[in-house]
Amino acid sequence: MKEYNRYMVTSALPYANGPIHIGHLAGVYIPSDIYVRYLRLRKRDVLWVCGSDEHGVPITLKAKKENRTPQQVVDEYHELNKKAFQELGISFDIYSRTSNKVHYQMASEIFKTIYEKNGFIENQTEQFFDKTANQFLADRYITGTCPHCNNEHAYGDQCEKCGTSLNPIDLINPKSVVSGDKPILKETKHWYLPLNQYETFLREWILEGHKEWKPNVYGACKSWLDLGLQPRAVTRDLDWGVPVPIEGADGKVLYVWFDAPIGYISATKELTPEWEKYWKSEDTKLVHFIGKDNIVFHCIIFPVILKAEGSFILPENVPANEFLNLENDKISTSRNWAVWLHEYLQDFKGKEDVLRYVLIANAPETKDNNFTWADFQNRNNKELVADLGNFINRTLVLTEKYFNGQIPEITTLTDNDRHVLSQIKTIKEDTEISLEAYRFREGLNAAMNLARLGNKYLAETEPWIVYKTDVQRVKTILNISLEIIFNISILFEPFLPFTTKKIRHFLNINAIEWDKIGTGGLATPGHIMNPSSLLFEKIEDAQILQQMEKLEKSKQQNIQLQTKIVPQKTNVNFEEFQKMDIRIGTVIEAEKVAKTTKLLKLKVDTGIDKRTIVSGIAEHYKAEEMIGKQVMVLVNLEPRKIKNIESQGMILMAENSEGKLMLMTPSSQIENGSEVH
Ligand code: MF3
Ligand code: ZN
Repeated sequence: MKEYNRYMVTSALPYANGPIHIGHLAGVYIPSDIYVRYLRLRKRDVLWVCGSDEHGVPITLKAKKENRTPQQVVDEYHELNKKAFQELGISFDIYSRTSNKVHYQMASEIFKTIYEKNGFIENQTEQFFDKTANQFLADRYITGTCPHCNNEHAYGDQCEKCGTSLNPIDLINPKSVVSGDKPILKETKHWYLPLNQYETFLREWILEGHKEWKPNVYGACKSWLDLGLQPRAVTRDLDWGVPVPIEGADGKVLYVWFDAPIGYISATKELTPEWEKYWKSEDTKLVHFIGKDNIVFHCIIFPVILKAEGSFILPENVPANEFLNLENDKISTSRNWAVWLHEYLQDFKGKEDVLRYVLIANAPETKDNNFTWADFQNRNNKELVADLGNFINRTLVLTEKYFNGQIPEITTLTDNDRHVLSQIKTIKEDTEISLEAYRFREGLNAAMNLARLGNKYLAETEPWIVYKTDVQRVKTILNISLEIIFNISILFEPFLPFTTKKIRHFLNINAIEWDKIGTGGLATPGHIMNPSSLLFEKIEDAQILQQMEKLEKSKQQNIQLQTKIVPQKTNVNFEEFQKMDIRIGTVIEAEKVAKTTKLLKLKVDTGIDKRTIVSGIAEHYKAEEMIGKQVMVLVNLEPRKIKNIESQGMILMAENSEGKLMLMTPSSQIENGSEVH
């Protein structure tokens, strides 16, 4: 195994066009925070960088829509996200941004170096151009009709209705988002990274050299490589981004996925003049924390950029996570289906660690996972309050009560006492093994074993009973329980830093070194502790309901947004309308039409007669529900045969854009045969 002398840790730079949500946190930021806090405690030399990813077309589109400049958009979200991260205890060494000067220089230099080494392929292609606006159009700047499903609002890169990925040229009736005009095709020149030339290197380096990468990461790389790589354009015709730093490239910028990962390097340079030591020495361990949608960029494209430049090291590991769903539905910014960090911090003041705990306990490390508010409440009330909190609070309260908050001495040790004490070290080692291997949920579970150990010890030794007969024994029991708490105060530091700070305050101590965990004798007899208070409190149903209501609101709003109102039909005159004879009738019999899913055969008393009507509502109303209902019937519709049954008329219904049907019923009972007009 290679020896490393320092660590360079990066976390995906979030786009500065929206707030951070729990999916980002569980996938990337909390795991990396735990990792880095752990490394720091182990006194490893580590730098951890992150920042806002401030380029890319979605940001310019958002700015356009809101009538702001891209800079204004990214300024807003950069500040919001930076603050929210900090409040959750995400302890980056720097939270930089890709619109700053150091970054522009770094990205330009790296591009130039590769360019001068002839590392790019120049290529002329035809691209859509808006003559009125005098600009080339990024794929997202073109809309038109999808050739697959006829959706009139498909984008140049994708139809969101049928999910097909498209090229702008595929669109029927393409339109520019900027001017609304039909774009023309125009020649343009771009620079391509010849990924295909790196296939052998990538296969060696990843498929042979990094078999230890997580199966989801290794598998994704393998399937990309097996498909074969194509040269990839790393420049764009756009006016927001890092200008392409060579002659003849006016109006062109670097592709966002070229400049963004270089942001890791720029942020390091901003942080320390020693940045090169972290990026250019073979004894630095470079680790990228990302979500699964970023795998190809961090395992293939960015390494090729670094390799092409020639002086940088490559990542030693890329522990990418899968996705976190919310209440069984995909998290989505545009549908507002998310728990936003800045809102959580408002709604659950002082409960930062609860979110950290629940998101790690549920981290989507090997497969997509699900966050539910019920699970959040349950884990808080059962695991944090009942396991961790209860053990600590009971021990501290008993010590206050029996010994005025002064740590008692060990009198004699039983075999069980010795066994319990020896467990601490084992638990520490289990935690270390998990964290070194990026298995954070397992690491948290290992650490929780220390709380479980304490709880079990207290429950078995029952000091509150023994106190009545044997105060000497109680001294030992509480000393050992306190010893466990001293160890918890450090073992939990990577996971729950707000809680360990509180515990240290109760214990009246400064931080203890990680290496002291399990070595014994941390709870020094005679030491006086501070009065304690509850570490965690129960989360009540009302608070959970409030969050569920918030989500329900989003759902309703989405339904409204998605509802496409059918355009008004051409006018009819009054005589034409009068031709329709609509009556109120009552359904007196109903049965499903055999071998169909949609049809009900109804007998309706129309006041005029009792007739049979076949209606396509079986997916919305059960036969037995229909009986006795008053409905609107078009009685003079030409009879039609449906599934060999003669249907004499039609039941009127409302239908929404999703095809949901609802009966039209008079607002109160009225005689059958009444006319509707
Ligand atoms: N902004 C990207 C995303 O959220 C991640 C960029 S990571 C970097 O998916 F490496 F490019 F910085
Ligand atoms: Zn489509």
